[in-house]
Amino acid sequence: MPSQPNSSPANVTLRNAKGECALIAKRELSTFWKEGSVLLEINKDKVSIQLGEEGFQIHSDGKSVRIISSGEKGLMYGAYELLRMQQSGVSMVNLKIQEKPSYKIRILDHWDNPDGTIERGFAGHSLWKWDELPGKLSPRYSEYARANASIGINGCVLNNVNASPKVLEKENLIKVKALADVFRPYGIRVYLSVNFASPLALGDLKTADPLDKNVAKWWKSKAKEIYALIPDFGGFLVKANSEGQPGPGDYKRTHAEGANMLAEAIKPYGGIIMWRAFVYKANDKDRAKQAFQEFQPLDGQFRDNVIIQIKNGPVDFQPREPFSPLFGALSRTQEMIEFQITQEYLGAANHLVFLAPLFKECLESDTYRPSQGSTIAKITEKALYGYSAIAGVANIGDDVNWCGHHFAQANWYAFGRLAWNSNLSSEQISKEWLKQTFSSDERFVEPVSKMMLESREAAVHYMMPLGIHHIFAGNHHYGPEPWYFVKGLRADWQPFYYHKADSLGMGFDRSSQGTDAVHQYAEPLCSQLDNVNTCPEKYLLWFHHVAWSHKLSSGKSLWEELCNNYQLGLNETRNFQKCWDSVEDYVDLQRFQDVQRKLKIQTHDAQWWKDACLLYFQQFSKMPFPADYERPVYNLDDLKKVLIPLGLFGNPTRDMLP
Ligand code: GCU
Repeated sequence: MPSQPNSSPANVTLRNAKGECALIAKRELSTFWKEGSVLLEINKDKVSIQLGEEGFQIHSDGKSVRIISSGEKGLMYGAYELLRMQQSGVSMVNLKIQEKPSYKIRILDHWDNPDGTIERGFAGHSLWKWDELPGKLSPRYSEYARANASIGINGCVLNNVNASPKVLEKENLIKVKALADVFRPYGIRVYLSVNFASPLALGDLKTADPLDKNVAKWWKSKAKEIYALIPDFGGFLVKANSEGQPGPGDYKRTHAEGANMLAEAIKPYGGIIMWRAFVYKANDKDRAKQAFQEFQPLDGQFRDNVIIQIKNGPVDFQPREPFSPLFGALSRTQEMIEFQITQEYLGAANHLVFLAPLFKECLESDTYRPSQGSTIAKITEKALYGYSAIAGVANIGDDVNWCGHHFAQANWYAFGRLAWNSNLSSEQISKEWLKQTFSSDERFVEPVSKMMLESREAAVHYMMPLGIHHIFAGNHHYGPEPWYFVKGLRADWQPFYYHKADSLGMGFDRSSQGTDAVHQYAEPLCSQLDNVNTCPEKYLLWFHHVAWSHKLSSGKSLWEELCNNYQLGLNETRNFQKCWDSVEDYVDLQRFQDVQRKLKIQTHDAQWWKDACLLYFQQFSKMPFPADYERPVYNLDDLKKVLIPLGLFGNPTRDMLP
């Protein structure tokens, strides 16, 4: 978002436009544009119609610029694009740009609770001050909307997927309306997460059975009430029959029956239902298979305004997962992708982990469904019934810097940019962001962009290399606890279920000899993953239980490769510290020191992860550390006693070393 106003306002003219988005475009350009006059024009020419009401063209001849769109929103997005180019140092001579968004709905999911806490939020309290609304409007509401609009985000779910039914009470809907009114001029629609048992929980009915006439009637009347207040309300996000949430399954109804009942209630108003595929039961042999098993047979049964929202991987936002096999498996149902921007499993607001490479890895994955080249981006961008959508779980709170870590803002930015244009490269996004946020001096941008691009892989190295997953501390998902064990607790909430380390080796056997999860993937991927020798090593322990002495492509044994990966990760974080110190001259002191302090924590944590995991797994491998590798600096028994302070909603808020 542009931040340095122009000393003499630019000459900006509107043609055929007078709506709020166009006025915002005019205001932003008048304040920040530095290179001559700009004409913002609504035009119904063929190209503009093809680009849609959010798309735009930018033409320039060096002296003046014309932004053309068939809609007012397009003018606003065009204005922000122009300012982005200005701040990123792009030449303005003879521009001929045409853009339209990859996804129609580009949405942030806030996991914010009515009491102001945020589930898996690491940047303070919720931005939404429910106790002050609707009377008092924090200036941050419009700043939030402006920041989102500047990167193309056009929707937000205001509340946690573990939804309190109270959000649907009249007094709260009035608060939601107040936010919707602030966001609307920026092209942002609001959505709500709803609790499936709301009719029951709010005391109006004795059941929430989706096939009960009165239940359907209750939702219809609730929809009417909402749309009377918020005519452009986006729709509902639903987590049903998952992790203790109510759902249609409570009445022996399917997800389709539940989703369709809600879909019918909001269909007359143009609303959508985002129904989450994140479902898994206790005691199943393989949690990773369950979403596919549950939803694939329902393909074709959903109403056309239902979108199935699928997490990028089959388990839960791990540092690295293969893509969810559900992508491409629903050919008659609209699918959308859900990423997690908040770093629940990636060092919270302490670690610098740039997520564009993670997002891209998933979007570019070839599902081979229905045929080669059917990437997840292509599948989810295709609007089967008029809607295509992408969601990111927000990392935003009321912290002064919004996200808790200066570099965590880059993940909010990257999500928006990729939702707008999934073809952008991670490198381009990192550079754009650095230039707009810190400095456009190449001596700063080059090394820091490189650090950002390496950071996700580094986190995988020091946390869970080679396909290891979910060996986090039970209570907070911040640090390592591969040993975490609570008698009687469901197995799929404990690390041993995932790492399966024993005297022979480690890893989850999902091959055809094991749980056969590989068969949820299309050929030739299925056969590739099924064979321990052809399975990509980054997913090795996700799909196979591998012997400690098994040789990998490097010629090293599994045990040696584990040692190698954890060491690599630690070395990488040390290099990040050096890199940041080397650019001190280009950053203001406060932000320089903030990031420096966080990088120190990250390096400390990488050591913690390395020692905890290697010392723990060594008990099974019984193999020595390779001769030329660094030795642990901690003792396993001491690491087992590490307790980190938990703050809001049980989230780790620590900013110090344990
Ligand atoms: C994870 C996360 C929960 C969240 C859930 C979800 O399991 O730890 O806090 O509620 O995902 O996506 O619904």
